[in-house]
Amino acid sequence: MRYLIAGTFALGLSAVAAGSAQAQSASNPALNAPDQVAWQLFIQVNSRAGGSNSVFETWASDTDTFQPNPQFPTAPTPPSLRRPVLPQVAREGVQAAGGLLPALPPGISDGVTEETRRNKATFDFIVQNDLYKVSGLKAAFGKNLSFPVDAVEVKANWVPVSAIPAFTNNRVTIAQVPQLYHVNSAGGVQYALVAMHVISKLVPNWTWATFEHKSNPARCDILGCRDAFGAQQAVVPSNRTAGQGYPDCVKTPALAALLKAADIDPVYENYCLKGSQADFVDNVGLDIRVGNSVTEDGFVATASCMTCHGRAAWNKNGQATSQAGFLSFSPNGPIGPLGALLPNWYWSFNSQPPIFEGKPGLTRTATSADFVWSIPFCAIDDTQSPVPQSNCAGK
Ligand code: HEC
Repeated sequence: MRYLIAGTFALGLSAVAAGSAQAQSASNPALNAPDQVAWQLFIQVNSRAGGSNSVFETWASDTDTFQPNPQFPTAPTPPSLRRPVLPQVAREGVQAAGGLLPALPPGISDGVTEETRRNKATFDFIVQNDLYKVSGLKAAFGKNLSFPVDAVEVKANWVPVSAIPAFTNNRVTIAQVPQLYHVNSAGGVQYALVAMHVISKLVPNWTWATFEHKSNPARCDILGCRDAFGAQQAVVPSNRTAGQGYPDCVKTPALAALLKAADIDPVYENYCLKGSQADFVDNVGLDIRVGNSVTEDGFVATASCMTCHGRAAWNKNGQATSQAGFLSFSPNGPIGPLGALLPNWYWSFNSQPPIFEGKPGLTRTATSADFVWSIPFCAIDDTQSPVPQSNCAGK
């Protein structure tokens, strides 16, 4: 991935030639043209890697990373699937608060699965700093950790091919799936890729983007969809009624050209950028929200990639300092954090705001995982014997 940054700058220039409004600033594209960089990363992670595999399928899963002997794979590996973590935490929290289980879109309960993959730069940083185990987190307490600029991670959601008709409200038949979806198999079952988060360390607070298959019924629900680079309709408002589906995100000439020039399976043209995030708040003080209808199912209304990942932290015992980043759970649903990071997530203090570096009475209570939630969430507890399996291991 070393050539990624140079490639991004070059793309900024060529897209200016293509006349894209968003790409007119060729410098610092991760901040000036985040939707364009999101697509560039999407193409990078999904390019062909031999057979029908894509590049991300050659990367390390949580199962490869969070175990006593972390191993980076030497060949493509099948998806290492588990139940989606966040909707599960959200449902359990709401239940514990005395609420009913939030309603799920059709198909979700029967079989949406999930995996995380990270490239070698990300894997090496975690392993070299012992961040895959609780003893390492305890030892790293108080450190300032920052991943290298070529770090990239994805989180992908898959649905069994046999369940795609139900999942899409019968918009897609089983026979159509191989032409419309990226497909892979695990444990003898064929799965279709329905959603993908892509993050990169091109800027200090990472780049954040989420993609959905065009036929996901709740794709633009609640938050709408936004893609100023790749979609002819840059802003798609949400429907009044949930789960009704949205028109295809017809590609702009600039994105169509990028896809054509890439070594990528044409099935990936059926995916849409739902949104990208480059800051916590906008320039009129409003909190920025981005969430995926599958991955953040049940709390899209209070989803901010950057804010929730900005709570990825552990205490001196090597334990996560929040429940997957959520602020609270009420019978009405889970509440995710929005807007700026708060000092009391990382410090105890006995004075009133403003709280700033060097203020008397500050005591550190948490160490930041540099936005990588899987570190405090998935680390194996090697202070126990035998060491239990990671929370995040796939089947
Ligand atoms: C309410 C909190 C929350 C929100 C909102 C959220 N995430 Fe996460 N995310 C997590 C947690 C917790 C994990 C680790 C467990 C897992 O894999 O589900 C995680 C895992 C990930 C991973 C795997 C690597 C890592 O960092 O551990 C990626 C990539 C990711 N999220 C991207 C995103 C993107 C992009 C968005 C916004 C569209 C987003 N997340 C929104 C909490 C959140």
